[in-house]
Amino acid sequence: MSTKTEPKEAMEYHAGQHHHAEQHHGAGRLFRIAGPVVVAVGLDARMFDVVRVGKERLMGEVIQINGDKTVIQVYEDTTGIKPGEPVENTGEQLSVELGPGLLTSIYDGIQRPLPVLEKQMGSFIKRGVDAPGLDHARKWQFKALRKKGEHVKGGDILGEVEETPGFIHRIMVPQGMEGKIKDISSGAYTVLQPVCTLDTAHDGSGGGREGKMDITMAQRWPVRLARKAKKKLAPTIPLLTGQRVFDSLFPLAKGGAAAIPGPFGAGKTVSQQQLAKWCDADIIVYVGCGERGNEMTEVLVEFPHLEDPKTKKPLMNRTVLIANTSNMPVAAREASVYTGVTIAEYFRDMGYSVAMMADSTSRWAEAMREISSRLEEMPGEEGYPAYLSTRLAEFYERTGRVIPLGTEKEGSVTIIGAVSPPGGDFSEPVTQSTLRVTKTFWALDAKLAQRRHFPSINWLTSYSLYLDILTPWYAQNVASDWRQLIDRMMSVLQEEEKLLEIVQLVGSDSLPEKEQLTLETARMLREFILQQNAFHEIDTYCELKKTYKMMKTIFHFSTLATAALEHGSRVKDILGITSKDKISDAKFGREYEKILDGVQKEMDAEFNKL
Ligand SMILES: Nc1ncnc2c1ncn2[C@@H]1O[C@H](COP(=O)(O)OP(=O)(O)OP(=O)(O)O)[C@@H](O)[C@H]1O
Ligand SMILES: [Mg+2]
Repeated sequence: MSTKTEPKEAMEYHAGQHHHAEQHHGAGRLFRIAGPVVVAVGLDARMFDVVRVGKERLMGEVIQINGDKTVIQVYEDTTGIKPGEPVENTGEQLSVELGPGLLTSIYDGIQRPLPVLEKQMGSFIKRGVDAPGLDHARKWQFKALRKKGEHVKGGDILGEVEETPGFIHRIMVPQGMEGKIKDISSGAYTVLQPVCTLDTAHDGSGGGREGKMDITMAQRWPVRLARKAKKKLAPTIPLLTGQRVFDSLFPLAKGGAAAIPGPFGAGKTVSQQQLAKWCDADIIVYVGCGERGNEMTEVLVEFPHLEDPKTKKPLMNRTVLIANTSNMPVAAREASVYTGVTIAEYFRDMGYSVAMMADSTSRWAEAMREISSRLEEMPGEEGYPAYLSTRLAEFYERTGRVIPLGTEKEGSVTIIGAVSPPGGDFSEPVTQSTLRVTKTFWALDAKLAQRRHFPSINWLTSYSLYLDILTPWYAQNVASDWRQLIDRMMSVLQEEEKLLEIVQLVGSDSLPEKEQLTLETARMLREFILQQNAFHEIDTYCELKKTYKMMKTIFHFSTLATAALEHGSRVKDILGITSKDKISDAKFGREYEKILDGVQKEMDAEFNKL
């Protein structure tokens, strides 16, 4: 993105925020109610305006305008609302409040903090509850990094706040603001108190507004608009996950997008949580769209107890959780992914790497389907709206590794979306539309899960289009022959598949001895590398050096075995080598280097004896 578009974008943003609010205040009346979708008449509104619906002032958003009729999706239960009740336009776009206090928060789809909602509503779902995304009373220690007289513009970092122990939240100049600092000082402030005042009179660049402008630590960003960046960078750095099958065969790049489709119970949620826990992003945004009532509850109970393996502090310290429980209206679920990705972009703009998990995007697509059917739109494939693939594409396009508008620090948004195709059929529209726009495909397989092969990633159907572009990184940071090992691993696994077909037809005894060795190598790769127990305290995370050394040791066996066969050893004796199975000990042992060195030595001795 060139910097030339900056002022225009800034103007648009502020138009949405200010002028708009002054111009559109028309009140209307409810005309029709159809579940989460209502129609108002006589309302002066624009697309995506946030409106208040009915006497209880339920929050809604304009999603269609047909002449005098305004179609609104409502984020709260509309039961009991009647035609004739008032509808009021706030003139604002659906936005999130951004600033210190985001981390550790648990929100609903429209960024209302769940704990606050629970306190206000008790166990009832009271409606029309307003709860700001950030705590407006809490004071934060702001440390100014700029001085009076300096010229700053949108995205520039003015100062910082230690939001959670060790995490520095950078306070940025809102987009579209520019000027000379008139006043700035360190101290304790709430998110609504000005920490800095800009003088915009001199340069005429303040977006047409001359004079004085206060900057607070809280900003509001519309969620439906992707944030612009100064420059998009190539996805040349992996998002490391500590999961061997991902990091080796099917890597994901920082700023990339991955899909995890999987049938019921195949391991989508465990995979997403493993990624949340172990991936090397600075910030985690986790959007849960549980279908079963208890699934999201589990996440809500579990997450606050998870420990960040790097800091030994709560994982929530670098996490924002967005929860859609099954009793929440579908429109809120529809909005939740946008709320999530906008929060992700905010941290990206500070110069952080952010990983966003959405579990499961199928629930989001179903929300779109339900709203679309209420609109009586012409349904597309399987009842999903015709714009399903466009929406998915626009969402995944918000990923990227970038230089943000202000700072020179690079930031990234990586998205990992789980998909739950009904019946595990990957040809259905949500999986297919997702596949077209994500470059890493982690296909979960029910058969593997049944065999207790976890993570149940099917190594034959999964792929990563980032493999080539990431190869130099692995060569520089792990080992120069990393890619060779990956290719060798893949070809052994593919050969195994072919051999197994033959074995099924004619039995394994008729297989040539060399092929029997291939099967053994493939077994070792599957059991030692691909399988990984998320619930074992050591195996749950595997660093790259360990994966590398394990692969090396397996191929050490493979090479020695082939040579031994050529020198006349019997395959039975080779398969009887006992040291090879001790590679497995390295998975569960702390001192893997020592273990694997020992295995190699033992292996050499065993082969010498043959
Ligand atoms: N990496 C793993 N290591 C060990 N066990 C696993 C792993 N992944 C999944 N499992 C097992 O599989 C079970 C189901 O996994 P999970 O809940 O993640 O499936 P899901 O695809 O999210 O299911 P649903 O379709 O119901 O949402 C887990 O409870 C766990 O026992
Ligand atoms: Mg799940």
